[in-house]
Amino acid sequence: MPDRIIDKGQLALELPSTLPAIAIEPEWKGQPRLWGHSLHPMCSYLASFPAALAHAFIARYSRPGDVVLDPFAGRGTAPLQALAEGRIGVGNDLNPLAQVLTAAKVEPGLPAETRTRLAALRLAWNADAVAWLALGERVVAHPDGPGVGVPAPGSGRGPDAADEAVPIEVALAFHPRTLGQLLFLRSRLDLEDRVDRFLAGALAGILHGKTPSYLSTIMPNTFSMAPRYVRDFVALHGYEPPDRDAFDALSAKLDRLYRQPLPSSTGIALAGDARTAGRRARAALRSRGLPDRARLVLTSPPYLRVLKYGYYNWLRTWLLGFDARAIDAALDDAHHREPWMAFMREVLADLRPALTDDGIAVLVIGDVEMDRGKPSTSGHLLAERVWEEAAFPAGYRLAGLVRDEVAANRKMTRLWGDEAGKATKTDRILVLGATDAGRRRALAGADLPLDWTWPPTRLRPL
Ligand SMILES: C[S@@+](CC[C@H](N)C(=O)[O-])C[C@H]1O[C@@H](n2cnc3c(N)ncnc32)[C@H](O)[C@@H]1O
Repeated sequence: MPDRIIDKGQLALELPSTLPAIAIEPEWKGQPRLWGHSLHPMCSYLASFPAALAHAFIARYSRPGDVVLDPFAGRGTAPLQALAEGRIGVGNDLNPLAQVLTAAKVEPGLPAETRTRLAALRLAWNADAVAWLALGERVVAHPDGPGVGVPAPGSGRGPDAADEAVPIEVALAFHPRTLGQLLFLRSRLDLEDRVDRFLAGALAGILHGKTPSYLSTIMPNTFSMAPRYVRDFVALHGYEPPDRDAFDALSAKLDRLYRQPLPSSTGIALAGDARTAGRRARAALRSRGLPDRARLVLTSPPYLRVLKYGYYNWLRTWLLGFDARAIDAALDDAHHREPWMAFMREVLADLRPALTDDGIAVLVIGDVEMDRGKPSTSGHLLAERVWEEAAFPAGYRLAGLVRDEVAANRKMTRLWGDEAGKATKTDRILVLGATDAGRRRALAGADLPLDWTWPPTRLRPL
């Protein structure tokens, strides 16, 4: 027997206490970690979903030429995979780091363009290397001194410009030569320029990590360790940063990114709040003469109070000239359940008119079981609540729920020691129709067999 009645104006709908399952096998879990286009791993990003998961829904629920929209695009997995499969990929995010990464992937620099630009940058560096090296040496020699000024990101200014001081932890993380090169590149790369943005995204991706491909080995690649950890680590272990050449490392990174041909068309990367992503996506599509409604919305909303996208990326945000604190203040992942649900209601209401009449929305939702190391009850059965309190009131039709158990120790949220992986233990995937036609299409496509060959031979359902 249903145990709940929800009133919606005149309509009373009985909801079962557990949502119906949809017959989608989580085949993406059986795919190699790097399944999908070679641009996907440009830069690590917390809580990104695998490209194989994106494929499972893009191939099933859209056709070539359709618009696929992700209002919380993160590092751009869904829009890039959509483009790689011949769809029109549109991403949106409020985090400027996410927007840069998404834009770098959906409007990439062509291999010849980025290599030419990198060669020009290397020549310009060579011409002025002595002064930039001296700047790197000065910053590293006085990490906590009165503050050695360096040029602002994207300013194009030379090594004598003293626009801003360098955080101590940045000075501790890099060898003086690497830092001099980074300060040079940071001053030269213009994030408004498509080719420079691609290089900046690639550079952010190799900033820190534990193998020789990275410019600092002080922290893992997945996220930035806390600034205090960096200071303590250096004090305790006398960390000596390796002497890595940023130009060589960037060139090797480009080789990896361009292993596969770029998608044959470009997409759209929007910057802004997901609450208005639907209407802004439509306007952007219309202005390019493209169909302005999405056949598929595929997205993973920010999890309840789990991640601070600014703080856990502070070294990358420094490189790109973004304020980590401002990012965390702006994003909607620090809410408790009630305001979060109201937020999701607004997001879904704005998205619905941006879906075609038979459009489908797929929401990958983390069931938060631990909250900053403490058990969380508010995240329990989050997907069910999203349906009842956000999607249903916005007029969606429920096709069903896919359970995607995430191996606890495999998930990236290793932020709380023993609680590793428990913050987002279970992903639940809510499949919705924009209308009843969308719901029926979602159900009809659920068990279509997919081709998992990559690079693709045929990407449509078999
Ligand atoms: C779980 S992540 C999405 C990851 C993405 N699926 C990927 O593969 O990279 C959630 C995203 O929501 C973004 N976000 C948080 N609040 C937002 C808001 N109000 N509007 C738009 N994006 C927001 C965060 O910056 C983050 O990138």
